[in-house]
Amino acid sequence: MKKIIAIDGPAASGKGTLSRNLARELNFAHMDTGALYRAVAFEVLEQDKEPSVEDNALDGCKALQVNLHSANPLSNPDLRTEIIGEAASKVASIQSVRDFLTDMQRDFANNPKDGLDGVILDGRDIGTVICPDAPLKLYITAKCEIRAARRMKELQLKGESVTYEAVLEDMRARDARDSGRKVAPLRPAKDATIIDSSDLSEAQMLENALTYAKKAFG
Ligand code: CDP
Repeated sequence: MKKIIAIDGPAASGKGTLSRNLARELNFAHMDTGALYRAVAFEVLEQDKEPSVEDNALDGCKALQVNLHSANPLSNPDLRTEIIGEAASKVASIQSVRDFLTDMQRDFANNPKDGLDGVILDGRDIGTVICPDAPLKLYITAKCEIRAARRMKELQLKGESVTYEAVLEDMRARDARDSGRKVAPLRPAKDATIIDSSDLSEAQMLENALTYAKKAFG
C-alpha cells in the first residue's frame, strides 16, 4: 500500500505545522503545496502583472519551472506574506494553473525519496483531486477568529504591522474564494477525518494524527 497522507484545510488551520511534525515523527517526506501556488503568484507580481489573468498566471508557471532548475524558489521566505497569499488564491482559481502543478504534486506523492517511508502533502485539494486514493486523509479546520489570531501572531513575529480586523477580513475573503471557486474548491473529501484544531495544542494535534496514521498504516 502506498503510504500517502493527504492533509487539507483552510488558511492558518494548523495543517502546515501538523504536516511538518507528522513527517518528522513518521520519517515521511512533506510537500507544502501552497508554496507552489505562492511561488507562481510571486513570479506574476515580480512582473507587475495581475494574478487573476490566466495568461499572466501561466507566464508565472513557466518562470517558476525555469527557476526550479537553478534555485529553490519554494523556500523563499518572501512567499509567506499576506500579499502573496492573496495572489496565490487568485492564480489557484485558474484551471490551467492547477493542471500545470498537478504532475509535480503527483510525482512527489508517488516517488518518495530514498530512505523515507512515505509522503505527506498538505493543501486544499489533496484528498479530493491530487491523491484521491490516499489511505489517510485529514481535514484540519478551526474557527475563523482563531485562525485570524494565529495568522496575526505569525505576521507580527515577522515584523509585519497588521491589525486583527484586517487579518480577519483577509481570512474571510480567502476562505470565500477558496471554497467558492469552480475548480477544486476547498472541501473535505468524503472519506476524510475532520479535526477541529480550535482548542487543541500542537502536541495534541500530533498525537491525534499519529493515532489515525497507526490505524491506516499499522
Ligand atoms: O498558509 P496558508 O494556509 O495561508 O496558505 P497556503 O496553503 O500557502 O496556500 C495559499 C493559497 O494557495 C490558498 O489560499 C489557496 O487558494 C491556494 N492553494 C490551493 O488552491 N491548492 C493547494 N493545494 C494549496 C494552496
